[in-house]
Amino acid sequence: MLPCVYRLQPVLALLFFTLFNLGENCPATCLCPDPHTVDCSGRGLTRLPDEIPLDVRRLLLADNWIPRIPSDFLVLYSDLVYLDLRNNSLSHIEPGTLSTSSRLVFLDLGCNNLTEIPKGTFGESRSLIKLRLGNNPYLSMVNEDAFMGLTSLRELELERNALSGLQVGALSQLPSLRVLRLEGNPWVCNCNFANLFTWLVENSHKLPNGIEGMECSLPTDGRRVPLSQLSQDSFRECQITLTLTDFLIIIFSGISVSVAAIMASFFLASTVHCFQRWSKGAKGDEEESEE
Ligand SMILES: *[C@@H]1O[C@H](CO)[C@@H](O)[C@H](O)[C@H]1NC(C)=O
Ligand SMILES: *[C@@H]1O[C@H](CO)[C@@H](O)[C@H](O)[C@H]1NC(C)=O
Repeated sequence: MLPCVYRLQPVLALLFFTLFNLGENCPATCLCPDPHTVDCSGRGLTRLPDEIPLDVRRLLLADNWIPRIPSDFLVLYSDLVYLDLRNNSLSHIEPGTLSTSSRLVFLDLGCNNLTEIPKGTFGESRSLIKLRLGNNPYLSMVNEDAFMGLTSLRELELERNALSGLQVGALSQLPSLRVLRLEGNPWVCNCNFANLFTWLVENSHKLPNGIEGMECSLPTDGRRVPLSQLSQDSFRECQITLTLTDFLIIIFSGISVSVAAIMASFFLASTVHCFQRWSKGAKGDEEESEE
């Protein structure tokens, strides 16, 4: 029995050391189920925990009250592959924070308090495959270049935000996009929406329920209509776009009108002048005949 324990000693020591080390590297309030995962979900945290091991790959921070992420966070945790910040109090992301996330594959910022996604927020996050931004009730602005550089992104969630419109460029910049969620936004079907409508019809296979679940409100009376009841024809009035020829015609007719006006006034002035001279001449004649 005893020799056996002796032989096992190094193994036990190693095991103890590993466990001890893990315990030491794990933030006090969190769980670390495996060497690369730190789970701090639902711990009532009001800021990021200290002492997160630098080589963490999966960081679970959902259901807390975290209001901000330092802008160098992903520089520090450059091995992060999976970052879950769902249901926190993030109101904005400092520029550059996510642009260094070279390994990040999954990012959940759903159920926060974000108001806008500015240009180039995700920089060159070429590994990112799934991005969740839904259920941010004040998120009303997504820049046309918000998702620039996300060449691998397959799933994008923007459902139940406050979007009344979205520029098609934001979506057409995503070459790998397969699944897009946009339902539950207060879309307004005005002329700005026309391009998005066309894109959605052409890409309806990327929407989990097609355009079926989506509605927009009419700019005239605010009435909500399902997108499935609209057609390209609904936006017919928006298609009055000016071509170059139209422009040239407008400019040319403007110039012609001005030239005509100048000529007309010149003609009028000369006529008046002639008439005056003529009437003077006539008067002179009269005076002469009187003498
Ligand atoms: C969000 O987090 C809070 C705080 O932990 C929790 O009470 C609430 O149930 C969570 N909400 C959802 C939708 O999970
Ligand atoms: C979310 O943002 C709105 C306005 O932008 C603010 O009124 C509200 O207090 C914020 N909520 C939280 C939980 O930070």
